[in-house]
Amino acid sequence: MSTPRTPQNPFHAHADLTRQNQLNPLFAREGEATDFPLGVLPDGESLPETAYQIVHDEAMLDGNSRLNLATFVGTWMDSHANRIYAETADKNMVDKDEYPQTAAIETRCWTMLAGLWNAPDASKAIGTSTIGSSEACMLGGLALKRRWQHARKAAGLSTEKPNLVLSSAVQVCWEKFCNYWDVEPRYIPISLEHKVLDGHDLENYVDENTIGVVAIMGVTYTGMYEPVAEIAAALDRIQETTGLDIPIHVDGASGGMIAPFLQPDLAWDFRVERVASISTSAHKYGLVYPGLGWVIWRTVDDLPSDLVFDVTYLGGHMPSFALNFSRPGAQVLLQYYLFLRLGFDGYYKVQKASQDVAVYLAGEIATMPAFDLWNDGTDIPVFAWQLTAGYTDTWNLYHLSERLRLKGWLIPAYPMPADLDEIVVQRIVVRNGLSRNLAESLMTDIRDAVAYLDALDAPMPTEGMTHAFTH
Ligand SMILES: Cc1ncc(COP(=O)(O)O)c(C=O)c1O
Repeated sequence: MSTPRTPQNPFHAHADLTRQNQLNPLFAREGEATDFPLGVLPDGESLPETAYQIVHDEAMLDGNSRLNLATFVGTWMDSHANRIYAETADKNMVDKDEYPQTAAIETRCWTMLAGLWNAPDASKAIGTSTIGSSEACMLGGLALKRRWQHARKAAGLSTEKPNLVLSSAVQVCWEKFCNYWDVEPRYIPISLEHKVLDGHDLENYVDENTIGVVAIMGVTYTGMYEPVAEIAAALDRIQETTGLDIPIHVDGASGGMIAPFLQPDLAWDFRVERVASISTSAHKYGLVYPGLGWVIWRTVDDLPSDLVFDVTYLGGHMPSFALNFSRPGAQVLLQYYLFLRLGFDGYYKVQKASQDVAVYLAGEIATMPAFDLWNDGTDIPVFAWQLTAGYTDTWNLYHLSERLRLKGWLIPAYPMPADLDEIVVQRIVVRNGLSRNLAESLMTDIRDAVAYLDALDAPMPTEGMTHAFTH
């Protein structure tokens, strides 16, 4: 027998409200769908489908990630990867005792990378996953600093003034590293003659306090490779005359997962003896969703053991060299899925397809009188261009960037680093998923945008433009 319904029964009042809410069409529910307080925790609960719809709709206002040609970060994975992601989103990478298989897979992944990067003996290398290249670079930098400190202390010398030598076009994570860990950054300015750090003038920047030199495989501003072997040769010459033995960390955020496949003969990795460590972003050309990175040291001796913590409170003994404690394990499993799914040949095909599109786009841009190419996409599938000197006074690349936004394309314009900062460039990052057909549509939109801007009688307003997409 059912309980008699009375309006006083709060259970029934609640049941009525719930039923009413469920009956009301989603966008017609009183108050809920449009009236959430912003920036204040709501007083009470809402139906899951209402909250879902609100969040879903807000995310809809973001740009379309597939048309985002500003980011290096992966925006597409196949349906099997999406399944693995959904199935393993609950795994915390740090719980290695609880998730030993994920931990074993992490080790398998970096061991594979050590082989791919030509470590002389992959079983003697040491590595770890990270949340991205920024953390990986911090760990690489910390190991350089600690090794230098040990050597200086052993020789009874001061450890007060460490410095790191890098290109003025380094990614901001290196500025952070120097700032956060009290290391003096010594930037070698890039110039029109030396578009990347190439060993030129290095002797004027290094000294006994130099913990290392950073070489970038795929400069963020343009996508160009820094010639690691030439930088190493310059350091060899410096060692001959001064005795200073300075190691290199290769920041292969993008190129670490391109060069092994597209430029296998280029010696940029552990084949260069001076390279002590290499980092990469798995979420860039490793083709995994954000955030995953890797850092690998040539041998265990390159990673001072006093940087590695032995953590016992999760059960067992767990070595930890990381800035974060908890972070997703799912991305590591996604990387392993891709290693199995693609293998060397599959990675080659994916990266080559991206490069073909980049080279096509760069070639088309080069035919337009408005533009001067900075590079052509044959290193990583990334290239930049600037406005041809004297082409126009009425518009600039920030305006073009804004016009392309009207079509959904996100293509940033920004100044080059110090000493070249009067030059504004625009950059396209071609990633897995930007097909040749989409690229052809993009070229149509770029040509239309330039024709529109060229036809203007009066100069476009410039106020605030430079902030639109600064790097
Ligand atoms: C050369 C370089 N190093 C480091 C980073 C930082 O990488 P992440 O975003 O994975 O922290 C980037 C990102 O664009 C980069 O291009």
